[in-house]
Amino acid sequence: MKHFLLTATFTCCILASAGVSAQDRDVIAGIPVNYDESMAGDWQATLPDLLTLNNGKPVTTARQWYRQRRPEVLRIVEENQYGRWPARKAKVRYEIAEDLGLGGTAVRKQVTLHFGKDADGPRADVLIYLPKDAEAPVPLLLNLSFTPNNLTVADPGIKPGRRWDAAGRRYVEAETPADGPKHGLDSTIRKFLDAGYGFATVCYTDFEPDVNHAAKYGVRGLWLKDGQEEPAGDDEWGAISAWAWGVSNIIDYFEKDDDIDASRIALTGCSRLGKTTLWAGARDSRIAVVIPSCSGEGGAALSRRNYGETVAHLTEGTRFPYQFSRNYAGWAGKVEQMPMDAHFVIALVAPRPLLLSTGSTDNWSDPRGEFLAAVEAGPVYELLGRDDLGTNVMPAAETPIFNTLGYVMHEGGHGVLPQDWDYYLEFLKLYL
Ligand code: GCU
Repeated sequence: MKHFLLTATFTCCILASAGVSAQDRDVIAGIPVNYDESMAGDWQATLPDLLTLNNGKPVTTARQWYRQRRPEVLRIVEENQYGRWPARKAKVRYEIAEDLGLGGTAVRKQVTLHFGKDADGPRADVLIYLPKDAEAPVPLLLNLSFTPNNLTVADPGIKPGRRWDAAGRRYVEAETPADGPKHGLDSTIRKFLDAGYGFATVCYTDFEPDVNHAAKYGVRGLWLKDGQEEPAGDDEWGAISAWAWGVSNIIDYFEKDDDIDASRIALTGCSRLGKTTLWAGARDSRIAVVIPSCSGEGGAALSRRNYGETVAHLTEGTRFPYQFSRNYAGWAGKVEQMPMDAHFVIALVAPRPLLLSTGSTDNWSDPRGEFLAAVEAGPVYELLGRDDLGTNVMPAAETPIFNTLGYVMHEGGHGVLPQDWDYYLEFLKLYL
């Protein structure tokens, strides 16, 4: 249990340095923050309808959803929020090492994806654990991590990963502490392995650094022309799309690995990686189960609710505009005019199982806004013959709704708490 708690604390520390300590302060980046439920505004009045086509006609069949409305919704979210990524695939080379890990109890694969033609181009290290005695390809949970693999799992023999040195504007090797990482996910991983699931983890900054003006150092750089610093179009990909693109490339690898059942892949990540998880799940229907944690504003929380973080906070110049398409910042201060809201992104995952994981005191991320977005996406799940949340009354903390469209809120703040991993495992047992 101790490990788990430390992991959660560690995640929170990282997030605190990323700005989450801002929680409950009244003004962030010069913009007031509202935490008064009675002031959240009449968000429903202008909420775009998921089941009405752009031409005003109603969507009444699953076929219409898949053929007409879903592509419209995808385009709206892509252009206005996360940005579209290139249709052409990158050249990817795999470097694979396999041995036993976790004290000889698990198959361990370390797969490096090298992107593009240059030997020193972007690359991502994926650490994969599989149950040792599996007789058939196994389903697997892919975890998006804030830390390089050798700092995510305490297990001798993990290749040192890299972290982005913001001052030096370069990647540097992340040294493994002599006594291993203090906050490893190893006992979490063992639980998944014992239940017959594989567990993989990757550090998101391998795909691209998480700072402004860094496109050229990451995978987006592969499409930039000489001298070009950023994608040119206002609807082109931001960093979240770059990280989600990375996920799709990992799934391409899973499809080639005979030990992995690529039709049963789940994805999780927290905070900005919760946003990434949701968007990756929306974009790539090979992700069979989608578990975004504390994704908040710009993720699963309704932007029209004026509660906690807003689009204005998220895209303010010194904060996170680079994570989105340039168009997204244009909606700051006029969210009531946006052609989409968070229920659009959620509905793009339908009919696949989706578990929204939140925290009862994570006000900055607006857990109620996530619940309400899921309620609003419910009709799409229903149209496609799957169960929605089954209620529009928000459940208390630690009272999960494990429907196909699911919701669980831990008692506590921003981050992944010990019990969350147990909830995720339970959800996988139901749906993967
Ligand atoms: C900031 C940001 C959030 C984001 C979080 C994180 O707090 O405002 O939107 O989810 O950082 O990713 O750490």
